[in-house]
Amino acid sequence: MSPRAAIALPDSVGRVVMSPSATAAAADRATDVSETPVTLNIDGQPVEVAPGTTIHGACVQAGVDTPTLCWAENLTPVNVCRVCVVELEGSRALVPSCSRPAEDQMVVQTDSPRVRHSRRMVLEFLGSGVDLSQADDLHQWIQAYGADPDRYSDENHPVERVDEPVKIQDELYIRGLLENTFAIAVAGRGFDARISTEFDVTLPDSACVYCGNCVGVCPTGALQFKTEYDLREVEEWRPEDQTVTRTVCSYCGVGCNLDLHVQDERIVKVTSPADHSVTSGHLCIKGRFGWQYVHGE
Ligand code: SF4
Ligand code: SF4
Ligand code: FES
Repeated sequence: MSPRAAIALPDSVGRVVMSPSATAAAADRATDVSETPVTLNIDGQPVEVAPGTTIHGACVQAGVDTPTLCWAENLTPVNVCRVCVVELEGSRALVPSCSRPAEDQMVVQTDSPRVRHSRRMVLEFLGSGVDLSQADDLHQWIQAYGADPDRYSDENHPVERVDEPVKIQDELYIRGLLENTFAIAVAGRGFDARISTEFDVTLPDSACVYCGNCVGVCPTGALQFKTEYDLREVEEWRPEDQTVTRTVCSYCGVGCNLDLHVQDERIVKVTSPADHSVTSGHLCIKGRFGWQYVHGE
């Protein structure tokens, strides 16, 4: 059975925390397990994992690369993109590996023709409606599965892509797709699907606390830091030239870890390690965006 889907909520300082139902689900997963390791078979290879590990987690442990979009290690799985599906012996439908717990004696195929076909279709559908040009991590998967979003287009039915950025406030731009927290979400269906605040109010009137955690987990480049967006606009965004230095936020006693991304001796964005016990990759507005003083601004 899939874990309960739940949303992440910003806390009083703006960090995204798991909602009560998500916390309960996590507690269930933590307590509803024995100590006996689970042994499953992935692509013909036996893999032993701790109880409660997902199939995706088992794949990671086995060194089997698996694409993900809506999953992040610091969010509760929501099962919406289906790019991570695998074939499970005895199951009629493909199963999402990011949320399905590994069970003893499972036999999993991650690279069968059916899995490859499904993943290719997901990537093509996504790419046919959304500009993925800045989704750096997705390009390898698009190539690996031979996905060709343009095959949904012809002269009479050109593909329509969301190419133009939509500025929703000074530090945050939405370029097309989705996020997965409380203040903004996908509204509408089909071609009317769009990013919206609750009741379409402006961002300052919404529940948004400007923490930027949505930017931190966005896998497609749809949400970007303004510094990154501006540098990309003038073709000066150079991740290969950036250094990343870990430090501790100096604003309050929570002690969040910050990763300072520096290019040409200037901070260009701040992230936080997803596996850190204090931040889980999330920050508040001060830690995420309050670094201009470093440059005397
Ligand atoms: S910045 Fe993003 S994650 Fe933070 S509250 Fe606003 S919409 Fe939610
Ligand atoms: S340590 Fe910094 S980022 Fe963390 S809650 Fe305090 S001010 Fe925010
Ligand atoms: S990564 Fe989206 S459903 Fe698994």
